[in-house]
Parts: sequence; structure tokens; C-alpha cells
Amino acid sequence: MIGIDLTDRTAVVTGGSQGIGAATVTRLHEAGANVVINYVSDANRDNAEQLRNGLTDRAITFDADVCEIAQIEAMFEAAVKRFGGVDIVVNNAGIIRDRALKNMADDEWMSVINTNLTGVFHVCKAAEPLLADGGRIVNIASIAGLVGFYGQCNYAAAKAGVMGLTRVLSKELARRRITVNAIAPGVIHTPMEKTLPDHVRAKMLESIPLGQFGQPDDIAYLITYLCSDMARYITGQVLEVNGGWHG
Ligand code: NAI
Repeated sequence: MIGIDLTDRTAVVTGGSQGIGAATVTRLHEAGANVVINYVSDANRDNAEQLRNGLTDRAITFDADVCEIAQIEAMFEAAVKRFGGVDIVVNNAGIIRDRALKNMADDEWMSVINTNLTGVFHVCKAAEPLLADGGRIVNIASIAGLVGFYGQCNYAAAKAGVMGLTRVLSKELARRRITVNAIAPGVIHTPMEKTLPDHVRAKMLESIPLGQFGQPDDIAYLITYLCSDMARYITGQVLEVNGGWHG
């Protein structure tokens, strides 16, 4: 039997209170890792606490906005204080603010770039000096960053940026055997996916070869594998998980 054992490793998952993040927290914890469930603001506190309550004392929650580097540094300090180090970072936090270019306001552009791209930069920057040799960074990008969908110039630019950042960091951190990979999901059933208009959702479903949207665990299991010793030779990659759909 092949198994994944992440005992004594510590993982920080941004936006870990729901959707893909919550599934990732659950699977990394199941594999034995200590987990920090990052969430932002009161709106997500209940979900984060509920998730933590279903796990062991190897899980803690931490309120920090990825747009604020000081808050992210405080989160990593707390992780080190509680668990003694950090081995795994999953950059999962993300938002969408869709609108066609001609109507897109500056704040809609900036909030998506700040959260989805600068947030990943902040988390990687704060994590790098603390990450153990042989550690893992997994960044959640999107099919949107590869294909580009109508009304998502902010989101596509941010996610394409995440892919570029991933490739660069894989080189910068290779000396310490830290692998850095990105996952580009197709459409996954989460609270974010529920914001899609019905006609868009129906059209997407029709063109997905496997005939269905993905589940959060379809991403979480790949993340768990990438964090395992079995994936030690995979780095600088963008792995697509999309039911065969390429937009
Ligand atoms: P979601 O909306 O359910 O979860 C995103 C999480 O990020 C939420 O918990 C939210 O509170 C958190 N977050 C947002 N801004 C934050 C900030 N400033 N600081 C800290 N946390 C923050 O979304 P979902 O679907 O689980 O998405 C997770 C990741 O997967 C995102 O990066 C998203 O762009 C990406 N993705 C999702 C797809 C989907 O179909 N659901 C498809 C492709 C990529």
C-alpha cells in the first residue's frame, strides 16, 4: 500500500475556511500534518472555527489578510511558535470581481491583483526564511490564467502572474530542495463557483469532457501528493485539473 505521511510537518493554508482551502486543510491534517487555517475577517471566522473543531489539536486558526504583509508575518510567527517551524505553504486565498474591461473600475482591478497575486508574493516572502529545507509551496492558479474568459481580465492577469511567480520561485528555492508548483483548476464546486451566472455554468458543463465540475477534494488530493516525499522531483510546474476541459 502506498500512503502519504506528513507527520511532524506544518502546513499553512491561506483562505482555508471553505471550498478548496477547507478540503486541503482536511486532507493535509488527515495525512498527519499540523495545519494553520488562515481566514480573513469576522465573515469567515465561524467557518474556520467549525473546521478546526472537527480536527485535532494539530490545527489552529489565524485571522490574517494576505494583502497585509505584517498580518501574514504575524501568522507565520504564530505557526513557528505553536508547531516549531513551517514545511508547507498553500496559497489558496482568492477572489473574483468580474466585469468587462470597459466597465471595470480601478478598485475591481486592484483588489483582485492585490489578493490573488500580491497576496501570494506576501505569503511566499514571509514564508521563505522560515520554510524548512525540502519544503513545499503550492499555489492555486486557475484555468482562467491559461485560457482567459470574458470579463476576467483582472483575474486572468493575476492567475497568469501566479504561474510566472511559481516558475521563478522554483528556481530560486531549488538549492534548498523546496519545490514550488501551481495547480490550475477548471471549475470546482465551491462558494466561489456558486457566483457564476446559471447560463455560464450550463455552457461550461456542456463542454467539459468528463461531464461534471470538480470537487474540492480533486484539488486537495493533488496538493497532498505534491506535499509528500513522492513528489520531490516535481517543481516549477502548472498542473491542470479540469475534467479534460481547456476552455
Ligand atoms: P472560495 O471563495 O470558496 O474560497 C476562497 C477563500 O479565500 C475564502 O475563504 C476567502 O475568505 C479567502 N480569502 C479571500 N480574500 C482573502 C484575503 N485577502 N486574505 C485571506 N483569505 C482571503 O473559493 P474557492 O473556489 O475555494 O477558491 C480557492 C482558490 O481556487 C482561489 O484562489 C480561486 O481563485 C481558485 N480557483 C477556484 C476555482 C473554482 O471553480 N472554484 C477554479 C480555479 C481556481
